[in-house]
This record gives sequence, structure tokens and C-alpha cells, in this order.
Amino acid sequence: MDLRPLSPALGAEVMGLDLSRGLAVAERDAVHHAWLEHGLLLFRGQDLDEAGLVKFGRNFGDLEPPPASAERTRAETRGAAAPEVWIISNVVENGVAVGALGDGEAEWHTDMSYMAEPPKASVLHAKEIPPSGGNTSWASMTAACRALDPDLLRRIEGRKANHDSSYTAAGQLRKGADSVTDVTQAPGAVHPILRRHPETGEEAIYLGRRTNAYIPDLPVEESEELLDALWTHCARPDFVYEHVWAVGDVVMWDNRSTIHRREAFDAASRRYMIRVQIKGDRPV
Ligand SMILES: [Fe+2]
Repeated sequence: MDLRPLSPALGAEVMGLDLSRGLAVAERDAVHHAWLEHGLLLFRGQDLDEAGLVKFGRNFGDLEPPPASAERTRAETRGAAAPEVWIISNVVENGVAVGALGDGEAEWHTDMSYMAEPPKASVLHAKEIPPSGGNTSWASMTAACRALDPDLLRRIEGRKANHDSSYTAAGQLRKGADSVTDVTQAPGAVHPILRRHPETGEEAIYLGRRTNAYIPDLPVEESEELLDALWTHCARPDFVYEHVWAVGDVVMWDNRSTIHRREAFDAASRRYMIRVQIKGDRPV
């Protein structure tokens, strides 16, 4: 396999692998190594069904089921043939949304970071894409960490943040959740704002999503101001790779060292993606 960097900040395209054949041990190790080094890997021209995506994901660990509170679960839509797979789609069939996140913008976030042990990786495979729009951008939080100015670094050192679990990145209230009116009371998980990557040893800024985030022990106003400053820093264009999707793309990224967002797309077009998540550890 050959690697081609996708941007100065992060990401590499992997060429010469047909994922539907499965991975030999040496290939799996090479993919794992490249993924750690680049934070994100792109495999173009793949054709995996749900079982194939599950099999690919399991090369790198046990799979994390989709959010239990997803507004539609797999079992409710098309039968639980592959319960590990989460459908990300705006497609509506017989009045029922077959997937999650709709067609709107999804704000910068880390997948499922409201869990105590969030998934280390997400793998997303494009089956149908709109003619334009719906690009996904990733930002390197190791690059953002290295570029922190000393004042901002001093203000976050030793601090934690609560990662709210009430809303999806698309701003939808999750099934069974109450709307948040006081960020100090938001449910979710508290994680360190700076974390050390358990496999590379690199330090990264770890943020879930801006909405309803809160830094415990700070007055709300101060927490809001500090989080705004952090998010402005982390979304700097020089940390970002923006991906224009094509059918057949498989993108596998590291949730411990990157954040991502999705732009909106035309509601009249179809976008259909399948995703698996690989279990991770408690951030430290
Ligand atoms: Fe996401």
C-alpha cells in the first residue's frame, strides 16, 4: 500500500488496498501505524456492505454500538442485521428517516465523547452522496495543542470539561433527553481538556462539542469565554482537512486527536453513509 498526505495538518490517502478482500496481518499493522501517524485515513473506491464494514472495523478492536439514544435505531428502521452499524442519512422511506443527522450542518465535535470511555475511532463509508455540499472537515487537535499560546495553555492546564450528551452534533435533542437550560447541570461525561494519546504519547486538546459544554468549578461566564477562545483556536483553517466525498470512500479517523464537522447539503438530494465505531479508553 502507498500513502499520500491529504493536507499539511492531518490525513493520508491509502492506495492499493481492496478492503473487501480483508486485511492480512501485515496490512492491518501498516494501516494501524499509518492511522496513528496521520490521524485520518482515506480509502477510495471501496464497496463494503454492512457486514464488510463491521469486519474491517474489528481489525482494530471491539466495536462500540451506535448511541442508544439515537433518534432511530437500526432495529427500528430496517431490522438489526448489523446492530453495530449506524446509518448516517437524510433519506426518508415511507415517512421514516432511515438514518441520523438529517441534512443540516453538524457542528465541530468528537464522536460520542459524552461517554466515560468514548470510541477511539470512527469509520464512515459513503454509499450515496449529494452532487454538492455535505463535506466533512477534520481538525488536528495535536496540531492545535502544539500551537496553543502560553496564556491559553495556562488557563486550561489541569482543567476538565463536561461533554453534554443531550444533543446530537446536528442540534437534535436525543431521544429521552431533556433540553438543557443550565450548562452546569448538563448530563454527559467530564474529561480533561488536555489529554495524552494512549498509543502515540502525543498531547492533544480534547473537546466534545461547543453546545452546552462547561468547565466545572468556573463561573458560567468565565467557562463560556474560555470555551469560545478554545474553539476559535481549534477551528483554525491551518489545522483542518476538508473532505469532498465520493461514493466508495471509507474514512477512518482517530477521535483522540481530531474533531470534525459536516456542512449542510440540499435536503432534496440523498446522502447515505454507514458507520462503525471502535471502542476506546477513558481519556487521561
Ligand atoms: Fe461525528
